[in-house]
Amino acid sequence: MRALVYHGPGVKAWEEVPKPVLVDDTDAIVKVDATTICGSDLHILKGDVPEVTDGRILGHEAVGTVETVGAAVRRVRPGDRVLVSCITACGSCRFCREGRHGQCLGGGGWILGHLIDGTQAEYVRVPFADTSTYPMPEGASDEDILMLADILPTAYEVGVLNGHVRPGDVVVVVGAGPIGLSAITGARLFSPSLIVAVDLVDSRLDAAKRFGADVVVNNGRQDTLQVVRELTDGLGADVAIEAVGIPDTFELSATLVRPGGHIANIGVHGKPATLHLEHLWDRDVTITTGLVDTYSTPTLMRLATSHQLNVSHFITHHFDMDDFLAAYDAFARAADTGALKVVVTPRSSS
Ligand SMILES: NC(=O)c1ccc[n+]([C@@H]2O[C@H](COP(=O)([O-])OP(=O)(O)OC[C@H]3O[C@@H](n4cnc5c(N)ncnc54)[C@H](O)[C@@H]3O)[C@@H](O)[C@H]2O)c1
Ligand SMILES: [Zn+2]
Ligand SMILES: [Zn+2]
Repeated sequence: MRALVYHGPGVKAWEEVPKPVLVDDTDAIVKVDATTICGSDLHILKGDVPEVTDGRILGHEAVGTVETVGAAVRRVRPGDRVLVSCITACGSCRFCREGRHGQCLGGGGWILGHLIDGTQAEYVRVPFADTSTYPMPEGASDEDILMLADILPTAYEVGVLNGHVRPGDVVVVVGAGPIGLSAITGARLFSPSLIVAVDLVDSRLDAAKRFGADVVVNNGRQDTLQVVRELTDGLGADVAIEAVGIPDTFELSATLVRPGGHIANIGVHGKPATLHLEHLWDRDVTITTGLVDTYSTPTLMRLATSHQLNVSHFITHHFDMDDFLAAYDAFARAADTGALKVVVTPRSSS
């Protein structure tokens, strides 16, 4: 089969590799019908994720068809159509039993396209198939459900639910990439009075408006704190969601929130950020961090199939698997191409 293989920082290839086989009796082999690229894949290619080694097949999002299952797989059967989620869950460790699959101690967590071969391939081996896949629902397309493999549960769980967004809230989302736009999408389910999107790139702010932001702020040109204060009688936002992952934007998010508000960090940080406790200690704020667990995936599926969550507008580009390198190029040059999510499918299914 062919797969997108990482060969060290800056080097990747769409090349012939052995087809995966069952290793553990809880595995399934899934034929990939649609996959996509995540910002984390770009981080890997920059060399920011050193545990990813030469030869690793990338990708942690897919919709596919189960081809074979191990002897201990109970629920998933050959021929089933499934969503393969970014988080794998052993289902029985202490954290899986709490729904914290991202912290799985039993060999799960974020492993696909990271510690084991991933989904940017014609076939993928999915460990713990019963607890790491979701049956495809009726009434939504493959590519729509593919959007639930990572960005939507991440922004919903780590941004919207951790941030306790409630009806009437003023919600500021810092960063309007796929994750920030997903946070806007998820926050809208709770009828906030105002969503403010903050980004440095105007095309991303245009996207934020299309996704339902009421106010957009280009923080390269505008003073975000002043805008938020003007909108909130000087109080600050009820919830600030950080969706970039750099010290500046975390520190900005912490200034934007009202006393008693929530700061929900989604961004993956590689450098220390300063926590200004000298300003925050008496403001009763709650700061949350998190890795996605995907406990919300079934809920988001119901919302997508009942059309209460519009997921199709994330998809800006389509590619055949044989053009995987072009898909990466379009995704990596998002400021020029306007890419949000690219859908990559085998040629035969197009
Ligand atoms: N916690 C989790 O489980 C989890 C899961 C997936 C992704 N993430 C993280 O979420 C973050 C966002 O992901 P994404 O895919 O949307 O990334 P992205 O790079 O596509 O988007 C980031 C956005 O932030 C904007 N930005 C950059 N610097 C800024 C600044 N100083 N001020 C305002 N905006 C700025 C960029 O213009 C861009 O639109 C990343 O850090 C990613 O690693 C976290
Ligand atoms: Zn991802
Ligand atoms: Zn577990």
